[in-house]
Amino acid sequence: MLGEGDQFDWALRASRDAGLPSIAVTPAQGKALMLLAKACRARRVLEVGTLGGYSTLWLTRGVGAEGRVTTLEVDEKHAKVARQNFSRAGISARIDLRVGRAADALPGLAQGVAAGIEPAFDLTFIDADKPSTPDYLDWALRMSRPGAVIVIDNVVRNGEVANEQSTDPSVLGIRRTVEMIRKEPRLEAAAIQTVGAKGYDGFLVAVVGG
Ligand code: SAH
Ligand code: DHB
Ligand code: MG
Repeated sequence: MLGEGDQFDWALRASRDAGLPSIAVTPAQGKALMLLAKACRARRVLEVGTLGGYSTLWLTRGVGAEGRVTTLEVDEKHAKVARQNFSRAGISARIDLRVGRAADALPGLAQGVAAGIEPAFDLTFIDADKPSTPDYLDWALRMSRPGAVIVIDNVVRNGEVANEQSTDPSVLGIRRTVEMIRKEPRLEAAAIQTVGAKGYDGFLVAVVGG
């Protein structure tokens, strides 16, 4: 879209052809992720939930030639498509794709940051299994530098997240996440509601305090 080059179109087509679900971020949201990465001069980005790598492509563009994106994906079929998309875009060297449950990869990543072996993350994008979102936020917070940005996808879900009667585990996961942010003095956040190619939804942008 908007002359952003073909790698994004290729990635979506390859994802569709491989039978992946059509749940990547929209082009507008992808571009917003890229701009957020640029705005906070992100060099090191963490993504939870790769799918076919569409959002990863945007984030990688946002971090520039010196930046790196670590992205976590549980499904080998999704990861294979993502790998092909990264290779085709010529950016494989800047992406660390780890296949497995995010909950299994995150402690090791956090250890690397705590030990000073790896720098803290400048930006994290959480977009995987929604019931686990509070846990992913907890890990992201531990690995974020002061001033880092944490983005959480799908926080509106056609308004269902505002429905106190909902018993949907995904909705409950997001509601718990919002409650956690409310109580967390290190986080300030706003939910951005979106209407567009993928219906009525939204993403939350949080900034980590010092
Ligand atoms: N960020 C992607 C979309 C991600 S869809 C984009 O916008 O292009 C959510 C992804 O999270 C799916 O690929 C799913 O397989 C993955 N996922 C689900 N549970 C997971 C888990 N426990 N650990 C890691 N990834 C998981
Ligand atoms: C779903 C997951 C997503 O991350 C998304 O952006 C849209 C839909 C889903 O699981 O239905
Ligand atoms: Mg999503």
